[in-house]
Amino acid sequence: MTLRAILAGTGSALPRTRVSNAELAERVDTSDEWIVERTGIRFRHIAEPDETTATLGADAAKQALAAAGLEPADIGLIIVATATPDNTFPASATKVQALIGAPDCIAFDVAAVCSGFLYALSVADSMLRTGAAKHALVIGSETFSRILDWEDRTTCVLFGDGAGAVVLSAEDVADDRGILATRLHAEGQYSGMLYVDGGPSTTGTVGHVRMQGREVFRHAVTNLASVLGEVMADVGLSAADIDWVVPHQANKRIIDATAKKLGLPPERIVLTVDRHANTSAASVPLALDLAVRDGRIKRGDLIVLEAMGGGFTWGAAVLRV
Ligand code: UT7
Repeated sequence: MTLRAILAGTGSALPRTRVSNAELAERVDTSDEWIVERTGIRFRHIAEPDETTATLGADAAKQALAAAGLEPADIGLIIVATATPDNTFPASATKVQALIGAPDCIAFDVAAVCSGFLYALSVADSMLRTGAAKHALVIGSETFSRILDWEDRTTCVLFGDGAGAVVLSAEDVADDRGILATRLHAEGQYSGMLYVDGGPSTTGTVGHVRMQGREVFRHAVTNLASVLGEVMADVGLSAADIDWVVPHQANKRIIDATAKKLGLPPERIVLTVDRHANTSAASVPLALDLAVRDGRIKRGDLIVLEAMGGGFTWGAAVLRV
């Protein structure tokens, strides 16, 4: 028997308001045609003032708990991956804890931007396997619309808001169910290619997203193909063994180019970038929940998660559902 972190349930939450490319084109100098052709994005959800990273995260968490058949009191660990917390502190994880009514447990945030969910998943996996908790909520939640420069067409058309959550449970298993491998990377020398131009310790302001899109694109394809190769080698499996790839949803062209490099057929890739745009740390768990709920991802499937973002940070995970 092996103690592993098992995927016990998934959930997600999207803001009420959905915005099309055509609606954006009324505010900035862009077009539906440009956005679809360059990114694959058609819609994004944008949070209203009463919808925050913590409220969206809590809604996703409640769904994941229900899917796992657990109560808030069963949770011993809550990690929220976010770059857009409700407040500089306390951690959004403690706000989610209060909103879902979970009693005393471990709760903290992870800041790795678009790779945040992969980082949080890896930390939760380690903590569950060393006995820190029996059940964990791992949440990716973002309100990127609050840090976009709505005058900058090169960034504001790319992002959206939302949250995704998973419940992981530590279980002794005789088979290969659960998280089988995770790999994380960071290269801080590239921090200037994708960043927010404000913060508590520098400007004292929240700031806006700045990105050298073409450079980020280039690094993303290389790094994602490489880290996917690493996790697959860790578990001794090849592309042919993968049932589903749930990639970070930044750009359909990045997803297609990475899949091509690895010989992964497009029909085994979960795509949500068309309807959610890039929701940063929320994008992988949002896409995962969608594919679980629509019946594509089933018990026994081998799935691979991957993401890359500001830092640069990137990572991947392999799990048997
Ligand atoms: O989550 C991880 C982080 N993010 C990413 O992974 C994003 C990575 N980068 C990308 O997805 C792509 O680089 C973008 C979608 C951001 C841009 O696509 P691109 O094919 O690299 O376009 P570009 O930046 O080379 O821009 C091409 C042209 C430029 O015009 P000129 O200089 O050729 O005349 C831009 O000014 O497109 C123009 N442009 C736009 N036109 C209409 C840039 N943004 C827009 C826009 N609407 N929204």
